[in-house]
Formats: sequence, C-alpha cells, structure tokens
Amino acid sequence: MYSVGIITASDKGARGERQDVSGKLIQTVMEEKGYIIKKYVILPDNAETLAQEMVDMADKLHLNLILTTGGTGFSQRDVTPEATLKVITKQAPGISEAIRYNSLQITPKAMLSRGISGIRDKTLIVNLPGSPKAVQECLGFIVDTLHHGLQILVGDASECAESLKDQ
Ligand code: MTE
Repeated sequence: MYSVGIITASDKGARGERQDVSGKLIQTVMEEKGYIIKKYVILPDNAETLAQEMVDMADKLHLNLILTTGGTGFSQRDVTPEATLKVITKQAPGISEAIRYNSLQITPKAMLSRGISGIRDKTLIVNLPGSPKAVQECLGFIVDTLHHGLQILVGDASECAESLKDQ
C-alpha cells in the first residue's frame, strides 16, 4: 500500500496552543483506505520549514503522497502553496480544481483556498484547507481517484484502459 506523510501547517498547533484535529482526521481517513502513515508533523506557517519537510518526506523517506492541511488562505501567514511550489517539479492542477469545484457546491468560501497540487519525483503533494470540515469534504472528493494517480506515478499501472471500464 502507498505511504503518506501528513503536514499540518499551523502556528498555534506547532506551539501546542491548538489541538490538531485536521491532521488526525487525515490520518484516520487515509488509514481506513489502507494507506500507511509514515510521518505526521505539525509545523509553523513558515515557507522554508514547510518546504524542507516536504523535501525530506519526498527525497529521504520516498513517501508516495504528502497531504498538507492549513495555510492555504489569505492571511499574511498562509504560505503552504508557496512552500509547495518551491519543491514540486510538475503541477497537478486537476486535483485542486476538483477540490474547489466540488467544495463550491458546499460553500462559496471554497474560492478562498489557494491550495495547489504537484509532483516531486515519485511523490504527489496535495494541499488541503485547514478546518476539519474542509479536510473531511476535500479528501472525500479526491481520495478514490488519488489511488489511480499514485498507481501511474509509481509505475504500478502504465495506462488507464482497465480503470476506465469502471467509469
Ligand atoms: N473547502 C471546503 N470544502 N469546505 C470548507 O469549509 N473553507 C474555506 C476554504 N475551503 C472550506 C473550504 C475557507 S473558510 C477558507 S478561509 C479556505 O478554505 C482556506 O483555509 P485555510 O487557510 O485554513 O487553508
């Protein structure tokens, strides 16, 4: 099964002033789907720190998937998309488009998340918004399709013909 790293971007969470419900929720959802959580960290909203952790998870731990939560909005401290842009070599905009398209059916505030998705070598990185409600919703929209993307990314599936039969 595929390995996952979880990064919660939260100044308050990193200082221990706020419980990280969202990161734990990602863990629960992904474990239920059969993924193995290899690392879970809470980091301050600092682009260098976040980018360095993504690089470590991708290049040293060779994780298949990194899911971030938080820091995608308009506040001065929100820099998770900028940190992600520093480390990816390919964008995967469809994932974030799907997140926003589906989220907008629930709340117009979904347009305020600047989250991006992309690839570093064989690691897929996806930004999720910060609230537990948003995490539950956004992960629900993408989790089943992510599996097929990871199969192609790591070379477990070379083409889509078989899976297209299911649609
Ligand atoms: N997406 C979904 N599906 N559900 C939500 O409740 N909240 C929005 C948005 N995306 C939301 C959502 C809100 S209120 C904000 S401000 C942005 O995500 C950014 O959140 P972040 O700064 O915590 O990352």
